[in-house]
Amino acid sequence: MTSKIPASGTVYTPDELASAMVRAIGDAKDAAWLDPCVGEGAFVRAMASINVPKARIVAVDLDPSPARSDRLARVVRGADFVSWSQGTPARFDRIVVNPPYVALSRLDRGLLHTALRVRDHRGQALRLKGNYWHAFLLCAVRLLAPGGSVCVVLPAAWDYADYAETLRKHLPSRFGRFDVYRCGEPLFGAVQDGCIVLVGRDLGAKRSVSRRFEHATTSDLITTLATSGRRGKASADVISLGREEPAERQVRRFDEAFDLKIGAVTGDAHYFLLTEQERSAHGLPIEALRPCLTRARHLTRAEAADASWRRLRDAGERVWLFHPPDRLVDHPSVAKFIALPPSRGGCHRQRFKVTQREPWYRAVLPARVEGFMSGMSRVGPWICLRESQKLTATNTLYTIRFRLAQTRDQRAAWAMSLFAPEVRAQLLAKGRRYADGLLKYEPGDLRDLLLPVPQKTRGALKHYRAMVAAFLTHDRARVDELTAEWFGVQAAEHAAVPLFLYAG
Ligand SMILES: C[S@@+](CC[C@H](N)C(=O)[O-])C[C@H]1O[C@@H](n2cnc3c(N)ncnc32)[C@H](O)[C@@H]1O
Repeated sequence: MTSKIPASGTVYTPDELASAMVRAIGDAKDAAWLDPCVGEGAFVRAMASINVPKARIVAVDLDPSPARSDRLARVVRGADFVSWSQGTPARFDRIVVNPPYVALSRLDRGLLHTALRVRDHRGQALRLKGNYWHAFLLCAVRLLAPGGSVCVVLPAAWDYADYAETLRKHLPSRFGRFDVYRCGEPLFGAVQDGCIVLVGRDLGAKRSVSRRFEHATTSDLITTLATSGRRGKASADVISLGREEPAERQVRRFDEAFDLKIGAVTGDAHYFLLTEQERSAHGLPIEALRPCLTRARHLTRAEAADASWRRLRDAGERVWLFHPPDRLVDHPSVAKFIALPPSRGGCHRQRFKVTQREPWYRAVLPARVEGFMSGMSRVGPWICLRESQKLTATNTLYTIRFRLAQTRDQRAAWAMSLFAPEVRAQLLAKGRRYADGLLKYEPGDLRDLLLPVPQKTRGALKHYRAMVAAFLTHDRARVDELTAEWFGVQAAEHAAVPLFLYAG
């Protein structure tokens, strides 16, 4: 072991896992293999066991002390891989790596200097608060030949680390098939957190399919991984949830299941949104306004019904949207409200969004709304089903139309998919983090989520009501119980459902 790297950052891969990783990407005729930090040679031994000859394996390590397995590969010792990768003209068809897990700030100065010169695909240098594995992964993928495959074992931080966000979002699209295998159980005795194995196949392919697999135990993960290379062509619709689950469960992309739109843009919220008190002070008839939801906190239960809206109205919330029909435009109070000058609370009509429409006093409302969603919430994005036919929303909220559901139970079952453990794990890896730790999801973050197709719909609405209530009251035990009931005990245990999606 080299003294330049803290010992805690060097955990050796168990032989069984090394073998599964090597088998996951498999050999090909004349394929050139690389292990960027060979250590005691777990991967090199696994390569030899599938008959990859020494001449086709290159292995590098900073540690100058030879290991017994060095005879199985062309080994370069005493070299910093990050620096070596920038000088070598060689390209590889298969790369297997268990990089060092070390905070950059704890790195030897020479290594740090080189690591901080590594740039991501946007040309941005790594940040000091990042981790060494990030630099390794960037450098390794750059050495991959077109059509090549990489298999890497990483800490669970892959899913959520801020410093790796750009890579996490970009890397999958570079491969024809990109699989993320997560295991809740530590893969290495010394690393208590769960682990991630990434497998990228067919670098540079035109089409890209990304999948995610959740496992309860290391042995489940190893089994799926070892056989994954033999599965043939991946289908975008398939996700495996571990061994005792049905081997494969159908999934749909978020935008196949839902049509998500932004709520009505008023252009001058101060004028168009009123409380009940303001409506009555202006003498505006009820028909001149639309009941609406305008804040994440207005989504209080699984369904948005007349009664829940009335409670918001009576609590003094601004839940009236001025939207007079033609027949009321000449009503004296309506006409007076339309004519109000901005200095006395009237509309700022010169604002871009207001001047854009005709007539200016009627915002364009989202059509066929069947649900509401907030991009910002402590428990993550969830769908509030529209029960009241009159209710609309303004642009602080999203509106949802179901593409694959007609009945109330079907809608609830699809809405429930957002609470599936594997979806929560995907959500953790997305979203923009705000200073207070809240995550904000833009429509683009949600569109390519993979959602499990509901296995049943009977009783879904009742279950969904309970699920939303448990999430909103932060009742962890109840959330776990309902998750296990709906998605299956295994799915629930395999990926402990994060109750809050903020970085806590
Ligand atoms: C996590 S261990 C993995 C070893 C082995 N591949 C395995 O899976 O068991 C990381 C290895 O990276 C090596 N290492 C650390 N920094 C390095 C660098 N800059 N260049 C090359 N090797 C490095 C360490 O010496 C250690 O052997």
